[in-house]
Amino acid sequence: MNFDVKPASDYHLPDLVTWLNQGFEGYFVPIHFNAGQFLSMVRKDGIDLNSSRTLLADGTPSGVALIARRGWTSRLAAMGISAPMRGKGAGTWFMKELIREACERGERETVLEVIEQNAPAVALYKKSGFEIVRRLVGFERSAKSPTSAAKSGDFALLEEIDIRTVSNLVSYFGLPDLPWQLSGESIAQTNPPARAYKNGLAYAIISNPTAEHVVVWTVLVEPEARGKNLGVQMLKNVIANHPGKTWHVPAIFPEEFTKLFEQVGFVKEELSQWQMRLILQIESQ
Ligand SMILES: CC(C)(COP(=O)(O)OP(=O)(O)OC[C@H]1O[C@@H](n2cnc3c(N)ncnc32)[C@H](O)[C@@H]1OP(=O)(O)O)[C@@H](O)C(=O)NCCC(=O)NCCS
Repeated sequence: MNFDVKPASDYHLPDLVTWLNQGFEGYFVPIHFNAGQFLSMVRKDGIDLNSSRTLLADGTPSGVALIARRGWTSRLAAMGISAPMRGKGAGTWFMKELIREACERGERETVLEVIEQNAPAVALYKKSGFEIVRRLVGFERSAKSPTSAAKSGDFALLEEIDIRTVSNLVSYFGLPDLPWQLSGESIAQTNPPARAYKNGLAYAIISNPTAEHVVVWTVLVEPEARGKNLGVQMLKNVIANHPGKTWHVPAIFPEEFTKLFEQVGFVKEELSQWQMRLILQIESQ
């Protein structure tokens, strides 16, 4: 079989979205983008459609790789091979080509997240040289869980602030190797009806709290205030401010956050991911 690649930007958007959806057929969680959702992801995650690629097998589009870029680092934001083409070496060929192109673009590192239980994908990335950085986990908190503000008086300290303020603080004070989607740069692309809160030196960003299901996107405590349970107190206050909701934490949070969320009544979800990284060989000048 003859493989080749073409820039994703060479194609019409609906075709690209169709091929991406085909690449994720039978996936662990249902993935089916429409054009609007696809464009939102492109914007939020810094995906570069000029560097993203469509895989051609004997001239037929058979896979898509979305590549996000920020300075020296790129991220394999999505990669899917159409079901009939899987297990035939297409993924292996594609990864080799994507890594070659990342080196050619002058990048120094490429990152990705992969569902831990997705054996073919984990095998492919390990075989391609990626190493595990950490496990990423998600949580859910039932709408029926008891809700209480941390302490009387503290509740009044919760104030709504601009999402940009929190995203700047995440860039400054967050872990330097945060998963891409939790980084300050990604969070900065979040807009109302999502909201940001400040509770003393603790901060959170949540999705639209008027919806039935609310997502926690950011939890941050400034370094000087860490170790004093401020994160727990702030989350309790945020939740008490919006009673009766089901709360979600997507499986992109470092495992280190487990204690924090469990103390607020969240339960860990079964699906977990590996955050992975590949240090690239810089091409000699
Ligand atoms: C993951 C995926 C991209 C791999 O592409 P592929 O063309 O099937 O990969 P290859 O045929 O080159 O196989 C790569 C490795 O995967 C492993 N593999 C392939 N099929 C497998 C299977 N059914 N079970 C377990 N491992 C398997 C093997 O280790 C193989 O390497 P080897 O042949 O040297 O042993 C493809 O299966 C896919 O698109 N899956 C659905 C979408 C997805 O999961 N994307 C990844 C999201 S992060």
